[in-house]
Amino acid sequence: MQYLHEKLCADFAVSGNREPDFLKRRVDQSMLSCGERHWLGHTLRGQAPHSGSVQMRTNDYLSIARNLRIANAEIKALQAQGHGEAISQVFVHDRLDQHRAFERRFAQLMRAEDAVLCMSGYCANTGLLQAITAPETPVFLDIRAHASLWEGVAAARATARPFMHNSPEHLERQLREHGPGIVVVDAVYSTNGALCPLADIVAVAERYGCVIVVDETHSFGAQGPRGAGLTVALGLADRVHFRTVGLSKAVASRGASSSDRPVTWSSSGMKLTR
Ligand SMILES: Cc1ncc(COP(=O)(O)O)c(C=O)c1O
Repeated sequence: MQYLHEKLCADFAVSGNREPDFLKRRVDQSMLSCGERHWLGHTLRGQAPHSGSVQMRTNDYLSIARNLRIANAEIKALQAQGHGEAISQVFVHDRLDQHRAFERRFAQLMRAEDAVLCMSGYCANTGLLQAITAPETPVFLDIRAHASLWEGVAAARATARPFMHNSPEHLERQLREHGPGIVVVDAVYSTNGALCPLADIVAVAERYGCVIVVDETHSFGAQGPRGAGLTVALGLADRVHFRTVGLSKAVASRGASSSDRPVTWSSSGMKLTR
């Protein structure tokens, strides 16, 4: 945002134009709120690391971001297939390419029925929630669930019903008041590193006939057999409906996968089959 602000000022200075007031107001407002919330004295604007410093903020949990074997395999794959068909995957039928092979292997690892490869964790979360949420469906999110999950609820024009962080008790009170809907949690919370009490959340959600979505972005690679995440680690793969995994953390790459267990696709849309 600061870059955008500086660039806008520089561009307008060069062109001699004055930026429209509504744009200046909006960018100033965003700068101010970011500054107040994060940057003034916050680690995002902290000291540059010295040689020998221990970096505590990386998402590269497995330290593979600079692994040469992986980089060479990526180069080989690009040389062999390029970027595939430069077209939205919804137009590609019966494909058996590397992406589809990845989806199948990913689903197997996650003990899911199938998986869909997406552009990013953010896209996977907004896209999934937009797809499964009708405007009248209440969505119960842990107050610390990732921003992209809230964005998905907004995109679906549904109502978010937040519950207190890691509190199955407060979730239950919300369900009693608003009726069944979609329960959304992170397996591991990005803001404080807390683990979700997933078994208790699932038990409450099931009692009220809810659909359960778990964002495994920070648990994938770190929890469960072969890093399959918290849901698999706790033996809940056949009780959680949807899981999303951003690949920008332990996998140190870009993209995401959204996987599901008990959902099948039919010509009339999506059918939950428990
Ligand atoms: C819990 C969680 N979900 C989703 C995302 C978004 O992932 P991506 O960076 O792949 O868009 C993040 C990224 O910080 C995250 O922490």
